[in-house]
Amino acid sequence: MLTNETLSTIKNRRSIRNFKNKQIKDEELQAVLNAGTYAPSANEQAWHFTVIQNKELLAWLNFEAKEIAKQYEPLQDLANNERFNIFYNAPTVILVSGEEKAIAIESDCAAATQNMLLAAESIGLGSCWIGFVLVMSGSPKAKEYLKKLGVPDGYKPYASVALGYKNAEVSIAPPRKLNVINYIK
Ligand SMILES: Cc1cc2nc3c(=O)[nH]c(=O)nc-3n(C[C@H](O)[C@H](O)[C@H](O)COP(=O)(O)O)c2cc1C
Repeated sequence: MLTNETLSTIKNRRSIRNFKNKQIKDEELQAVLNAGTYAPSANEQAWHFTVIQNKELLAWLNFEAKEIAKQYEPLQDLANNERFNIFYNAPTVILVSGEEKAIAIESDCAAATQNMLLAAESIGLGSCWIGFVLVMSGSPKAKEYLKKLGVPDGYKPYASVALGYKNAEVSIAPPRKLNVINYIK
């Protein structure tokens, strides 16, 4: 099988859920954000990235999201677990929002998110795609928190990325599912 640095980065990236208690460098953050903005989009680049490095704000988001998640049965165990932090105590979280009326905004935001995860891996950072925070969209306080986070009017969050230095051995990817490809030549 052909391989190169990019293909190795794709294969080596794993979700990291244990981070060092140390902030990442600004140049690392900028590299990750820049990669996000270079993702393909349905021609609109209608995304917005909120970088959150403020510990109080991260704690508030964790608390609020868990409070709301208590209403959703599949999330209840995690939401009621006091030790669970939805961002795994990452020092940096990037909230990926998109303009709701853009033609393919969920795909655009997913592409930007994946670009950031791969960029993080390529420079030795740990990252995890965090969808849990999206439960906040169902909150009566949704407008208030979007404002607090500086999300532009008409935009809403579609993903978030927890980012930091890895604090654990990275496990090997589980075997890939077979029979997910067919060829028509
Ligand atoms: C849309 C989406 C939402 C996710 N949300 C979470 C999340 O809230 N918390 C979490 O720990 N992992 C989350 N993940 C990460 C997945 O659990 C992870 O990618 C999957 O288990 C495969 O592991 P890998 O990333 O190491 O390949 C999410 C992934 C995707 C694509």
